[in-house]
Amino acid sequence: MNLPDRLSLAHLPTPTEPLAQLSEQLGRAMFVKRDDLTGSHLSGNKVRKLEFLLAEAVANEATHVITCGGVQSNHCRATALAAASLGMVPVLLLRTANGERADLPSPSTGNVLLGVLAGAEVHLCDPDGYRHGRQDRMAQLAQAIADRGGRPIIVPEGGSSTLGALGYVNAARELVEQLGPGPPTSVLVAVGSGGTLAGLAMGFKALGAPFRAIGIPVCDDAATFRTIVHDIAAPAARYGLPALSTDDYELVDGFQGQGYALTTPPELACIRDAVRRDGLVLDHVYTGKAFGALLDLAGRRPCSLAERVVFVHTGGIFGLAAAGAQLDELPGHASPNTVNNAA
Ligand SMILES: Cc1ncc(COP(=O)(O)O)c(C=O)c1O
Repeated sequence: MNLPDRLSLAHLPTPTEPLAQLSEQLGRAMFVKRDDLTGSHLSGNKVRKLEFLLAEAVANEATHVITCGGVQSNHCRATALAAASLGMVPVLLLRTANGERADLPSPSTGNVLLGVLAGAEVHLCDPDGYRHGRQDRMAQLAQAIADRGGRPIIVPEGGSSTLGALGYVNAARELVEQLGPGPPTSVLVAVGSGGTLAGLAMGFKALGAPFRAIGIPVCDDAATFRTIVHDIAAPAARYGLPALSTDDYELVDGFQGQGYALTTPPELACIRDAVRRDGLVLDHVYTGKAFGALLDLAGRRPCSLAERVVFVHTGGIFGLAAAGAQLDELPGHASPNTVNNAA
């Protein structure tokens, strides 16, 4: 392995902790890799990617960092906070319902709040314009900045380029060091843009460890993500990483639910139970769906998992903080409105 220089943005190594109750309940050794603890505001999986992506930006003396994502994108929030702390201007292209200011939460909440606090220049796009035109929009923004004498760099959606995925090659190394190389281990992670899964799979393969990354798509399907992971991993030979084949990792469909950032009462109940049983605060967009998949596979298809299982908690708490209205709808959920203060 021949990884390039990176910045130190994340608090590493993140802990890997046993999930005591679940281990007993499911009859196998269950662990959680706490990548929700890479930092406080600068937290979650995106920070590991940004260590490499923004090292390149600093080396190129970038003045502006342009990236894109959904309105409550964790990646956009982390990029904005990290770029600002390095003296660069964050420029965010956010996808909203109609591409209009009125779509933004008012007052600002969650990731949007932090992005704005970091001084991000915010541009909006409707879903169709985002799907088909985000690269062009970001290129136009970059051109306008360059015309004014700035030096912009564009970070792709989710930070999921080959360079960004190296953050998870590092995480794979960390995990193997923390748990030791055996026994065979399944490592589950949510998949939104593919870089985290690609990095873990490349890392485990490079280390020759019997760890198998299992990706749970939260949008799109497994076939789409196989192509994306392939495209991320293909150029990684330049960093001394082995070629990745589809046998080196898994993608399991069936847990996208109603689609990206949409949620259902059973998914919300799974999030609530994880707080109370495991002390984990998951989110409704990524980690809640992946954790639901873990419970489902361990219960209904136990042979699909190795004897040791690790769930990678990739963060997302600020997105959950913007979803209070949905959680308050959950049957049996005690929102402040339903607590009897007189008791
Ligand atoms: C909290 C969280 N978990 C998981 C993911 C998925 O990671 P990736 O985009 O690398 O597939 C993301 C971002 O998309 C995220 O914000």
